[in-house]
Amino acid sequence: MEGAGKIEEVPKSVGKARSKGKSIGLVPTMGALHAGHVSLIKAAVDRCDFVVVSIFINPTQFEPTEDLDNYPKDLDGDVKICTEAGADLVFAPGVNEMYADKNITWVTVEKLTENLCGRFRPIHFRGVTTVCTKLFNIVLPDVAFFGQKDAQQAIVIKRMVADLNMPLEIEICPTVREADGLAVSSRNQYLSDAERKAAALLYAALRECEKMATGGCRESAKLIEAMRQVVSKSPGIDIEYISIVNIETLEDIDLIEDMALAALAAKIGSTRLIDNILVDLSKH
Ligand code: PAJ
Repeated sequence: MEGAGKIEEVPKSVGKARSKGKSIGLVPTMGALHAGHVSLIKAAVDRCDFVVVSIFINPTQFEPTEDLDNYPKDLDGDVKICTEAGADLVFAPGVNEMYADKNITWVTVEKLTENLCGRFRPIHFRGVTTVCTKLFNIVLPDVAFFGQKDAQQAIVIKRMVADLNMPLEIEICPTVREADGLAVSSRNQYLSDAERKAAALLYAALRECEKMATGGCRESAKLIEAMRQVVSKSPGIDIEYISIVNIETLEDIDLIEDMALAALAAKIGSTRLIDNILVDLSKH
């Protein structure tokens, strides 16, 4: 596997692969790679001939109050994981490489970024869409892979690619979970044993919503209340939001017709976790 730290190295390596007729896959990450990231890399290896993993802790998507300085880093471990998963190139630029001059150009997706996490993280998605645009322009992939775990991010990126006619496809991969259902996340390592136990209630709440909805309860207010009840089994969970939204507009809905996204964010101690489930009633 190759490594690149400078932007100019990427088109050289990717260009060589493309000149041999290979298709290019990109998996954008912020490193501290775990089973969720590995599932994306494997999906990319399955579908594309040459797979680039980018590792860049993007400062512009962190709110001023957030954990940028404490974000976990393990480049050596990450490179090993990428090699084992079958990646062809790891692109791990420094901040000065990616933002050589202070950015004054931003890519902003409206509306879809206003609800859910956007309500609590006002500059976050602007940072994500801007850095992903930069990565897409540097790598020029045929397909980029994102996780359903960050459902709003995936939907925002898809819409950006469609609206701006970016010449690539976005593939969204399922959420990888621990045995008790907790979505795998690099932030899980901050949880104490008691917090880690409590964290499983987040997915339990989403499953309860799905169970009730498939059982016939379609009113968001009732479903949200039921999810709150499950989460409140542990006093240590501070809910930021629990919402049921339209899967295309991400606006709150009162009643589930056939499909909806149930999504939540909560703080356990100082660790902010998010999760979601797609409620599909079309088969019920
Ligand atoms: P990061 O949090 O490192 O996540 C990188 C990718 O891994 C995202 O697409 C995310 O949805 C996916 N992912 C994380 N946990 C997952 C899980 N349990 N199952 C499946 N996929 C999972 O998301 C970002 O980085 C950044 O915002 C980024 C897109 C790289 C832009 O900076």
